[in-house]
Amino acid sequence: MLSTGVNSIDTLLGGGFGRGVITQVYGSFATGKTTLAMQTGLLSGGKVAYVDTEGGFFPERLQQMAESRGLDPEESLQRFIIFTPGDFKEQRRTIGSLKKLIDPSFSLVVVDSITAHYRAEEQRKNLTNELAKQLQVLLWIARKHNIPVIVTNQVHFDTRAERTKPVAEHTLGYRCKDIIRLDKLNSPGSRIAVLERHRFRPEGLIAYFRITEKGIEDVDLLRPEGQPPKSLPP
Ligand SMILES: Nc1ncnc2c1ncn2[C@@H]1O[C@H](COP(=O)(O)OP(=O)(O)OP(=O)(O)O)[C@@H](O)[C@H]1O
Ligand SMILES: [Mg+2]
Repeated sequence: MLSTGVNSIDTLLGGGFGRGVITQVYGSFATGKTTLAMQTGLLSGGKVAYVDTEGGFFPERLQQMAESRGLDPEESLQRFIIFTPGDFKEQRRTIGSLKKLIDPSFSLVVVDSITAHYRAEEQRKNLTNELAKQLQVLLWIARKHNIPVIVTNQVHFDTRAERTKPVAEHTLGYRCKDIIRLDKLNSPGSRIAVLERHRFRPEGLIAYFRITEKGIEDVDLLRPEGQPPKSLPP
């Protein structure tokens, strides 16, 4: 297990992101997907292959997170190998190239997000197989090196089901053994993670967290920011 640095989310995931499997982290914009993936890589101490398809990886943010945790910002940034494929075809080549690149100095692979370019393509039906192939390669890497692979995913509103769903739900669902959904809560910076699927933890577990300068932090449920601790109900 690779710790996220957040107790509640580690507990949710049975200790952290699973090794040898793909974990899907999905949710709407600004729910903390990128921050969670970056933080896990930052705290892993090893190299991180980070495939950024959305331009969501900001070095300044990583350095800020490192600094506020007492880590060397420059050294931290250098551990991240960033790839920025411009379309789905290039994403395929990038993911293929990881097969050769990843060695024991890597502790994590992130694809953020796996579906942004897939979504942008017109003939999406024909691309489902391609998406599945990319996931197969990622799974091969995860197993060969016994490291976690995190793929982030966006949501769309399914008019037939009348609810929001992860993009390419079935294609990803077959290959991601663990799935967590992130949602916003009312108070600023407050978020919730819901375990939708896991190899050995019950689905439906939840974890509260906050997005701060440090990245992602646990919340003290009894002490909302700026308020004295509430007493527990009898
Ligand atoms: N220094 C900071 N202190 C507090 N919150 C911050 C800080 N920097 C960024 N944030 C917050 O982090 C959130 C964005 O998180 P993140 O980029 O991880 O979301 P995401 O789920 O990846 O979104 P997207 O779908 O757009 O990629 C925003 O709400 C932003 O306000
Ligand atoms: Mg993001």
